Amino acid sequence: MHLAEAWRAMSCEGGEMSGEAVREFWDAQAATFDDEPDHGLSDDATKLAWTALLDDLLGDSLGDVVDLGCGTGSISSLLTRRGHRVLGIDLSPKMIERARAKAELEGLDIEFVVGDVQHEPVPERELGVVLSRHVLWAVSDPGAVVSRWSAPLADDGIFIAIEGVWNGAGVPADAAVSILESQFRDVVHIDLADRPVLWGKEVDDHRYVVVGRGRDEGARC
Ligand SMILES: C[S@@+](CC[C@H](N)C(=O)[O-])C[C@H]1O[C@@H](n2cnc3c(N)ncnc32)[C@H](O)[C@@H]1O
Repeated sequence: MHLAEAWRAMSCEGGEMSGEAVREFWDAQAATFDDEPDHGLSDDATKLAWTALLDDLLGDSLGDVVDLGCGTGSISSLLTRRGHRVLGIDLSPKMIERARAKAELEGLDIEFVVGDVQHEPVPERELGVVLSRHVLWAVSDPGAVVSRWSAPLADDGIFIAIEGVWNGAGVPADAAVSILESQFRDVVHIDLADRPVLWGKEVDDHRYVVVGRGRDEGARC
């Protein structure tokens, strides 16, 4: 069963899932998570495509990054290789265990912490980039997550939300755009469904990235 289907089946079972049930769900995915080409990035072409996408989105920026819901840390690794100092946060201890093991194997210095991005205190230092890939769809209030993690961004900081709609689960692009528009003056949506190299296969669902720049002063707490 596709991950999104399994998640939908679970979350439909009995209303709001407890924090423990959510952690157990993601812990159970950790061992096989990297089997998907876009998760493990074990194919050179896929890894290169994600590196190129990050280069396009981030340009010369080298600020500190938080990778929200970092999973097994594949994107954290790419960001570290670009020269960013990266903090990866994930509520699943098993995902973080794998992320740490992968970073050690690759000789990369990445800080990974177990934490819920809905409650984890945001860093006091200024951030250059906050990135979340395939995480907003899995939290109960994606707007609140974007709002609290936009706060530590520098004035020229960037929020990157890579999301989609797969097998009946996900965040539709217009909803993600409207969430970022509530925080940023400049919001750009880029369709990614027509780039099979990112996914390791042709896809016929919805995949996109929404990028927010220029934190809206009016949205600051
Ligand atoms: C589909 S995976 C994406 C992992 C990673 N971002 C990637 O793209 O490879 C979703 C991840 O979000 C994490 N997650 C879900 N809800 C979370 C929350 N409230 N706080 C932190 N992490 C969360 C899960 O544990 C899982 O690792």
